[in-house]
Amino acid sequence: MEELKKAVAREALKFVEDDMVIGLGTGSTAGYFIRYLGRLIMEEELQDVYAIPTSYQSRLLAIESGVPVVGLDEVDAIDVAVDGADEVDPNMNLIKGRGAALTMEKAIEYRAGTFLVLVDESKLVERLGQKMPVPIEVIPQVWRAVAEEVEIFNAEAELRMAARKDGPVVTENGNFILDVRFHRIADPLDLEMELNNIPGVVENGIFADVADVVLVGTREGVKRMER
Ligand code: A5P
Repeated sequence: MEELKKAVAREALKFVEDDMVIGLGTGSTAGYFIRYLGRLIMEEELQDVYAIPTSYQSRLLAIESGVPVVGLDEVDAIDVAVDGADEVDPNMNLIKGRGAALTMEKAIEYRAGTFLVLVDESKLVERLGQKMPVPIEVIPQVWRAVAEEVEIFNAEAELRMAARKDGPVVTENGNFILDVRFHRIADPLDLEMELNNIPGVVENGIFADVADVVLVGTREGVKRMER
């Protein structure tokens, strides 16, 4: 799987040109892309490329890899955003947020001229929610209320607990994450909007109708899904 992720990350470099602003996603696949991008910049094969990270992870990796980092408030536009995903359906709708960075990812990726998604073939599903829950970032005070309120969607929510900290995961925005399992997601775009209408929900991990290109790493090579 790591080789497939590296192959799509290398292919993604073809979308980057001089003078571009690039949104940097979070996770292992985006991590390979950041390292390869840094290598091209250090070797001066790319000039005047600046990047906007979606998390501390991608910020630290960009700095370590020699990718110049800027803030969203310092640029006029984002040319390309590059990120992984947890699930991709046949219409290129996504579930993201395993790394709890969904809010900043969405803020950057929905504003990019081109949103490029990098996955290995294990991420392809017939229907969103088949394997992964939908992460929902909520302000801490409302976690229990929201966990109960999503039951009307025929779903069960679980508060995400931290691995190397006692208690719940606290996001980079100071919030909690609910992982919500839906029995059936019939209309991803509709559900994405409905979840964000629940008071106290900051953002959810359904990215419907926004990916422009998905590069899929398969054993037969990198395949491309496009609108
Ligand atoms: C981060 O919050 C997620 O949205 C990641 O982009 C997603 O989990 C993909 O990560 P991997 O590339 O590590 O599978």
